[in-house]
Amino acid sequence: MTQVQFTLNGHSTSADIPPWVTLLDFLRERVHLTGTKKGCDHGQCGACTVLIDGKRFNSCLILAVSRDGAEITTVEGLADGPILHPVQQAFLDHDAFQCGYCTPGQICSAIGLLNEGRAESREDIREYMSGNLCRCGAYTHIADAVEAVLEASK
Ligand code: FES
Ligand code: FES
Repeated sequence: MTQVQFTLNGHSTSADIPPWVTLLDFLRERVHLTGTKKGCDHGQCGACTVLIDGKRFNSCLILAVSRDGAEITTVEGLADGPILHPVQQAFLDHDAFQCGYCTPGQICSAIGLLNEGRAESREDIREYMSGNLCRCGAYTHIADAVEAVLEASK
C-alpha cells in the first residue's frame, strides 16, 4: 500500500492504495465516484476522462499512486452547488447526449480542451475531441455544445 493525498473535487482526500490500482478504479470502487465511466479500460474511448490539475487525462491509463498531491476533478465536482458548469449547461441546452454513458468523459474532455486554449473552430473541436467516442453518435450536438461555450468565451 502507498499512502496518497489528493485534492478530489475540492476536498482533501488521503488513501492507502495498492500501486497497481488505476485512478479510474480508485474513483469508482474506492470513493464511489461512479460518474467517471469505464468503457474500454485501454485508453481508446475517453469515457474515463477526468481533469488533473486542469488537464484532461484518461484515468484508466493512470496509476492512482502516481498522482500524489494532484488536484483531481471528476464530473461530480464541476457544478457549483445548483449551478452547473457552463459546459454541463451547454450539453443540456444542445441535447448533446442520448444514453449518457460517454457524457461525463465528453464534458471533462471539453473543459480540458477549453482550458488548453488551442481550439478556434468547430473543426478544431471535432479534431481535439476525437479521443472521446460516442456509441450513440451524438457528435453533432456535442460539437454544438462545445462550440457554444467556445464562442461565448471569445
Ligand atoms: S475507459 Fe479509459 S479510455 Fe476507455
Ligand atoms: S450518448 Fe450514448 S455513448 Fe454517447
